[in-house]
Amino acid sequence: MHSFKELSEKFADHFKTSFFPAEPSSLYEPSSYFLSLGGKRIRPTMSLMGNELFGDIHPETYHLAAAIELFHNFTLVHDDIMDNAALRRGMPTIHEKYGSSTALLSGDIMVIAAYEQLNKIKSVSLHQVLALFTQTAREVCEGQQLDMDFEKNDSVSLNQYLRMIELKTSVLLAASLSLGAMMGGASKGNLDHIYEFGRNLGIAFQVQDDYLDAFGDPEKFGKEQGGDIKQNKKTFLLIHALETCSKDQHAELMKLMKENAADKIEKVLSIYKDCNVADWAIKLKNQYVDQAEKHLENIAVLSSRKKPLQELSAFLVQREY
Ligand code: IPE
Ligand code: IPE
Ligand code: MG
Ligand code: MG
Ligand code: MG
Repeated sequence: MHSFKELSEKFADHFKTSFFPAEPSSLYEPSSYFLSLGGKRIRPTMSLMGNELFGDIHPETYHLAAAIELFHNFTLVHDDIMDNAALRRGMPTIHEKYGSSTALLSGDIMVIAAYEQLNKIKSVSLHQVLALFTQTAREVCEGQQLDMDFEKNDSVSLNQYLRMIELKTSVLLAASLSLGAMMGGASKGNLDHIYEFGRNLGIAFQVQDDYLDAFGDPEKFGKEQGGDIKQNKKTFLLIHALETCSKDQHAELMKLMKENAADKIEKVLSIYKDCNVADWAIKLKNQYVDQAEKHLENIAVLSSRKKPLQELSAFLVQREY
């Protein structure tokens, strides 16, 4: 068994190879630039972990892991256009550096490269792998569209938010683990539990992302502080604040969302603080981590093998970047 750190280093070794030809460099160079910015590589490492929970790592799991990381990077490139985000991983986003048309195609080419990687899998049923991978890709698009729709909707409920983040974020974490577990030969019952572990953990992961967007240290987080506030994203922070703040604060929040005042972020953050959103974030995360842990307990392998996943769970919800 390996730790998250060891597996992410193994993945990084494999992911060094270039996935793109040289020409036209105006298409491939921006994609290579983006991939070179790194990131935490959580999802591909989760695929290796999912495999290793059930058996030795199959060499083809690295192709699966690469496909997942390429797909994830595609979602980020398009997400940054949609969210008007100038900064990612502490560096300029593709659309900021090369323009939106190039960013769209760079994202597209990453998904295409992802499918090229999947096509190298021969050991397990590619049919089964493609079914989950493609279903997940579709759900991520659905979640992303809901996220955009909600920017213009002032009455999004906590349940609608939770469903949206499940789709845009958590299903990919769930699929990363579950597809890795398929490569390791997991039974149907175990696949279901590891998927549910990842799905619940993924919701807590996005809650933490939304918290950090408002209150993280931009130096560590690598994204512009208050980006979600600027875009009127319906995060749990806003939903909780609207539900618990005073009448005056409610009116102020609604007004701030209608106009683009220079001090919008500062003002919204101060209302969030008054509403104790930090405590609420911890409650919300714990609720989902508890659910995740129940599913982890139910996976029928020796509990000592589950230690790396327990460590991962703690890291994902407490991270600062
Ligand atoms: C960012 O994911 C997008 C979300 C779903 C919150 P990560 O936080 O895993 O991004 P990188 O790959 O480490 O940069
Ligand atoms: C992430 O949502 C979802 C996807 C990229 C699919 P965010 O918009 O919160 O992600 P960041 O914060 O830009 O990484
Ligand atoms: Mg974004
Ligand atoms: Mg987004
Ligand atoms: Mg975010």
